Amino acid sequence: MLHLQSETDQRWLAQVDAHLDEILIDHAHCEKKAAGTALNLIFAYVENQELCREMAFIVNEELEHFQMVLDLLARRHIRFRRLKPSSYGRELNDLVRKLEPGRAVDRLLVAGLIEARSCERFHVLAEHVNDAELAAFYGGLFESEARHHTTYTRFAKHFATEDVVTARLDELAALEAAIINRGEELPRMHS
Ligand SMILES: [Fe+2]
Ligand SMILES: [Fe+2]
Repeated sequence: MLHLQSETDQRWLAQVDAHLDEILIDHAHCEKKAAGTALNLIFAYVENQELCREMAFIVNEELEHFQMVLDLLARRHIRFRRLKPSSYGRELNDLVRKLEPGRAVDRLLVAGLIEARSCERFHVLAEHVNDAELAAFYGGLFESEARHHTTYTRFAKHFATEDVVTARLDELAALEAAIINRGEELPRMHS
């Protein structure tokens, strides 16, 4: 359903256990970035009305998630602050082709893969943590991020044929799996 080619392993769970606060702060940043991604797609493809409507819906949902994570941080007395981001998003965005319509396909598929990975990690986190509030919180976010993944993948087909999109999605998913499996030192939602 999520088109991911790898599963989150123990290495990330060890980071979660050692640096949960930092990962929660990073999660707030991720929701803010997710809203920005959908908003940028509106700016780039204004002539596609259906896309604009769906992206506006996602912007609102991601901002709502952002506020929910800020509330969660406040309840836990964790100060929201600037963090050095993981290189995951930048590395994936570097894979986006420069020329249209390939660029639109890649932007949508990369956004969709980031949603899929977030969704998978929320699920893993909800199952792993010994904290009823966090388990319920991440269990609740799972569904909307899965839906965002489906929406992005569907819109990629506005810019290329189904076969072309499927082949490119396989290619990008393999690269995404290699990036996330390599991991990084900084404890982040996508480390
Ligand atoms: Fe979200
Ligand atoms: Fe999302």
